[in-house]
Amino acid sequence: MADSGAQDAQDSQNRSKALWGGRFASGPSPELVALSRSTHFDWRLATYDLLQTRAHAGVLRSADLLTQEEYSAINAAIEQLGTELAAGQVGPGEDDEDVHTGVERILVERLGALGGKLRAGRSRNDQIATDFRLYLRTQARAIAGVLAELQSALIDQATEHIDSAAPGFTHLQRAQPVSFGHELAKHVHAFSRDLDRLADWDARTAVSPLGSGALSGSALPLDPEKVAAELGFESAAENSIDAVSDRDFVAEFLFVTALVGVHLSRLGEEVCLWTSKEFGWAKLHDSWSTGSSIMPQKKNPDIAELARGKAGRLIGDLTGLLATLKGLPFAYNRDLQEDKEPAFDAVDTLMVLTPAVTGMIATLEFDTERMAQSAPGGHALATEIADWLVVKGVPFRSAHEIAGACVKVADDQGVELWELDDQALLGVSPELDAGVREVLSVHGALATRKTVGGTGPESVRRQISRLAESNKRTIQWATEQPVANAPTWLG
Ligand code: ARG
Repeated sequence: MADSGAQDAQDSQNRSKALWGGRFASGPSPELVALSRSTHFDWRLATYDLLQTRAHAGVLRSADLLTQEEYSAINAAIEQLGTELAAGQVGPGEDDEDVHTGVERILVERLGALGGKLRAGRSRNDQIATDFRLYLRTQARAIAGVLAELQSALIDQATEHIDSAAPGFTHLQRAQPVSFGHELAKHVHAFSRDLDRLADWDARTAVSPLGSGALSGSALPLDPEKVAAELGFESAAENSIDAVSDRDFVAEFLFVTALVGVHLSRLGEEVCLWTSKEFGWAKLHDSWSTGSSIMPQKKNPDIAELARGKAGRLIGDLTGLLATLKGLPFAYNRDLQEDKEPAFDAVDTLMVLTPAVTGMIATLEFDTERMAQSAPGGHALATEIADWLVVKGVPFRSAHEIAGACVKVADDQGVELWELDDQALLGVSPELDAGVREVLSVHGALATRKTVGGTGPESVRRQISRLAESNKRTIQWATEQPVANAPTWLG
């Protein structure tokens, strides 16, 4: 044990580094320090913390709580620190509890007592909520950007395969032939809904908690609305207690990222099927697949499998946060520090996974002949017979029976539906004349599906051009930063 004089000196030093030492007779135990520290993950918020410090300095100046000289000195120090943070030249210190402590320590080291004025009217409780909203609003656009690229790759492949026929499945059993472009475009729709969700989420998240202080606002003549506008928010929070404890914006964000994960996973599963020898519909490019350490012939769809696997992780990020939030009393509770890592993990996961999936999709080579050959197999054209009869006035109930009977006869004869001769057709029903063969081709079946949402080439072409339009709008949104005139060091 250190002698008590040395221990006291150490304690007093630890207290002076923390933001809350005043009332404590002894410093925190090393175990508490280790548990409490968050700089190893929250330092990625440092530039956002600095940005809000810059905005806060502005209102302190407007409230005459800083002189013009003080304000200028603070601004110069902030710009300098911002540049260093962006270049990774400055990081957290050993004794910094969290990102706010670290940023304030550096400013105090550089500005002396003047740096200590920047905490007036602020608490780490409104600071963290503000930093986190700023960060996630920026990341939402980054995620939108990589998703838009994936959509573009899918749109390109879909466009190329509008006229490629393939078997369509229900229950993973051959059901009806479809345009393969239609199959690919369905994934673009799923991601479009995710992108809409991100934009909706962004509008709800554009509320600034800064000015809420620890939980009750501030007695100083600050201007939360001005700060909100400067930080790119639409408004300032109306309830300070809610503002410091609300993490709906994180939960919602994680729901969207989990659902993106689910969509990537479903796409991944299809790529696994398509590239299997059994299907033989698609070939992976060498640069976007892996080999086996023991079986030289193998080419594995690891990207597609990781897409499936990482969906589990993204769902875990969401459920972990919801468990943290459940039953929490208002306002700030330290449990809330556990909100950052799942969100950071979700961002990092999607930012590394999505571009890999994009590359895999863009370079897939499809065997359109093989797909087309199997498209009508398994009596996938049976519905065409029923629909053809309906047009002739036969009630669908009977038409379905008749088509089913055709399937049975074809199976008994070991032939495909279109190979049934006139006699066999008439034997099933007097309604079935040779004209039915016109619809017993994949081409015929696809061409008739012209209505909105149908798999006919005309309809798929219109669908894809609408998707391409909305893809352009997403690319635009992804480049718009939430904070107007943001400094170059942000993010
Ligand atoms: N590091 C904390 C977090 O991430 C910041 C707020 C801390 N506030 C407090 N009163 N200890 O949530």
